[in-house]
Amino acid sequence: MKNKIYIETYGCQMNFADTELVQGILHNNGYTISKDIDGADVILLNTCSVRDNAEQKIHSRLDHLKGIKNKRPETVIGILGCMAERLRKSLIEEKKIVDVVVGPDEYRRLPELLDVAFGGEKGIGVKLSRTETYDDIAPYREDGLNAWISVMRGCDKFCTFCVVPFTRGRERSRSLDSIVLEVKQLSERGFKEVTLLGQNVNSYNDNGKDFADLLASCAIVDRSVRIRFTTSHPQDLSDKLLYTIAENPNICNYIHLPVQSGSDRILRLMNRTYTIEHYLNLIDKARKIIPGVSFSTDIISGFPTETMEDHLMTLDIMQKVRYDGAYMFKYSPREGTKAYNMKDDVPDEVKSKRLNEIIELQQTISHEINQTLIGTEEIVLVEGNSKKSDKFFAGRTDTNKVVVFPKVDNVGEGDYVTIKINRATSATLFGEFVDKINIF
Ligand code: 5AD
Ligand code: SF4
Repeated sequence: MKNKIYIETYGCQMNFADTELVQGILHNNGYTISKDIDGADVILLNTCSVRDNAEQKIHSRLDHLKGIKNKRPETVIGILGCMAERLRKSLIEEKKIVDVVVGPDEYRRLPELLDVAFGGEKGIGVKLSRTETYDDIAPYREDGLNAWISVMRGCDKFCTFCVVPFTRGRERSRSLDSIVLEVKQLSERGFKEVTLLGQNVNSYNDNGKDFADLLASCAIVDRSVRIRFTTSHPQDLSDKLLYTIAENPNICNYIHLPVQSGSDRILRLMNRTYTIEHYLNLIDKARKIIPGVSFSTDIISGFPTETMEDHLMTLDIMQKVRYDGAYMFKYSPREGTKAYNMKDDVPDEVKSKRLNEIIELQQTISHEINQTLIGTEEIVLVEGNSKKSDKFFAGRTDTNKVVVFPKVDNVGEGDYVTIKINRATSATLFGEFVDKINIF
């Protein structure tokens, strides 16, 4: 019986959530999920197309998998996710070792398509759907503390640089009831943190129930389970959502709010549909409604026509907002997007230089913000051993900062503790245990 599946996941959290969905579908069809590539009958790569370097990683991984295919030609190799959707049949034509190509809306057909591949043919499923949400499928998750729940799929924003609307299709929401039920089940299994995922969660809509309604319904399931969410678009982040975060102690005071650029001219070319003035007002309002809220962002350097002035405006907004963290990228042209038709006219060295300046500034800001926390007491959810030593625990604050502290008796994974911060770098806070907290 050919039933051992091994999956590697690349890219965003949405892909990690999709991998659990795929595992759920395959598990229901008699497959066993293996963590070991050796001896796997099926090797699947869940892929990302958002930037060219993400795709290059998969190409080199496939070259590496050739060795396995040569040794055991009966092994089925499949590509899932955004690259499958974008490149479709050409993946099979160019990479002889690929047997199965399945896009994000066709995972239900995987068992059937794998059967086709076991029969020696190629299995392809790349249709996008306006309705598929996999609402009825239970993701296959290992026990743990943190779980991702995808609450909606697709994106209708069409930022001009972004391939996602083409690889993941139109926006559609799962039902509120099924998501709340999933949170309940996760809480019963001992999960302590749930992240609600969507490309643009603010446009969540289940028959009139919006994202704030969904967050509130998830938060009351179990107050000892933290609720996080990502990603919010600055255009339609509502006051109701801000008040919902403020009113619910277990909805984390942390908002990922991609700005992409500090220049209104570039934002217009990106079709981001907000101005810097609007964005800064939103940040101010959020800080008033949710005291102590922290922000992270996404920034792209070197979008077509970006001048030195535009770049300085990006550095300027970083200084004005003072983000706790940022994901920072060089612009990468993606075929099929509107920006692909604009000339990619910022030379690569200039993109890199600007990106480095952005990264350096963010490190300075993160470092400064973290220094101000020395001497304060922070509530931390203990997640496990620190990366560097098993004599230390690591966990996170509700504002998503990593905190490392020496282990103490009677404290373990999943506990909430108060830690007094005594040292900080740009990435990590260090401190001493104060006490353990019970949250009901
Ligand atoms: N080039 C560089 N960065 C991109 N992103 C999306 N598309 C591109 C691209 N073509 C970034 C955006 C987005 C994040 C998920 O990835 O900043 O918010
Ligand atoms: Fe891409 Fe923009 Fe949609 Fe985000 S909001 S997935 S950047 S199109």
